Amino acid sequence: MGLYSNFIFPHMLEYLLGSKQAMEFRRRTLADARGDVLEIGFGTGLNLECYPAAVQRLTIIDPAKLLPRRVAKRIAAVHMPVEEAFLDAEHLPFQNARFDTVVSTWTLCTIPDAVGALQEVRRVLKPDGKLLFLEHGRSGDATIARKQDRWNGVQRVVGLGCNLNRPIDELISGAGLKIRSLDRFQMPRTPKIGAEHYLGVASV
Ligand SMILES: C[S@@+](CC[C@H](N)C(=O)[O-])C[C@H]1O[C@@H](n2cnc3c(N)ncnc32)[C@H](O)[C@@H]1O
Repeated sequence: MGLYSNFIFPHMLEYLLGSKQAMEFRRRTLADARGDVLEIGFGTGLNLECYPAAVQRLTIIDPAKLLPRRVAKRIAAVHMPVEEAFLDAEHLPFQNARFDTVVSTWTLCTIPDAVGALQEVRRVLKPDGKLLFLEHGRSGDATIARKQDRWNGVQRVVGLGCNLNRPIDELISGAGLKIRSLDRFQMPRTPKIGAEHYLGVASV
C-alpha cells in the first residue's frame, strides 16, 4: 500500500480535488471563515490559498502526511500563522469553545467515526462559531443511492476509507450541530455515484 497511499493516491486527490471547479467550490465554502480556524483532514492543503483575510490563525490536522513538501510550500505562501498537526479528528486535544470556525471539505466521507469527530467539532466550536462544510455523500435519488451502497466496498479500498453513501446532513445533526444552511447539488462533470454534494454551515 506504501506507493499507492503515499504517492498515487495523494496525486489523484490533487488532480480531482484541485480542479478549477473544485477550487471555486472551496472558495465559496470558505468565504465565511474568520478568526481562529481549525481545518480537519487537510490532505494536501488545497484549501490554504482559499482562506479569506478575516482568518487570523489556522490549525490544520490530518492523521496522514500527504505530499508534505507541497503542503509546506502552501503553508509558507499564506498570510496567517498556520499550525500543522498529525491528529485524528475523533480526538481533538483542544479546549472547549476555542475556535471561531471549523472547516471540513471532502473529509467526513473518510473519518471512520464521523459522528464522533463532529461531536468533537461541536465541543471545540465557540457558541457563535460555525462549521463550514463541503462534502460528497448519499444521493437523494433512491436508484443512485442503491448503486452507492453496492460500490461502497470498492470505493473504501480505492479511496483509502472513503465512503460514497454517507448522509452528511444526518451525520451533522446526529452530532448535535444545527444546520443553518445547506445546498445539495450534483457536482458538474462527475459520475452520478459521486456527484451528490452537501455545502453548508452548521453551528452549536
Ligand atoms: C478525500 S481527502 C480530502 C482532503 C482535503 N480535506 C481536501 O479538501 O482536499 C480525505 C482526508 O481525510 C483525512 N482523514 C482520514 N481519517 C481522518 C480522521 N480520523 N481525522 C481527520 N482526517 C482524517 C485523510 O487523511 C485525507 O487527507
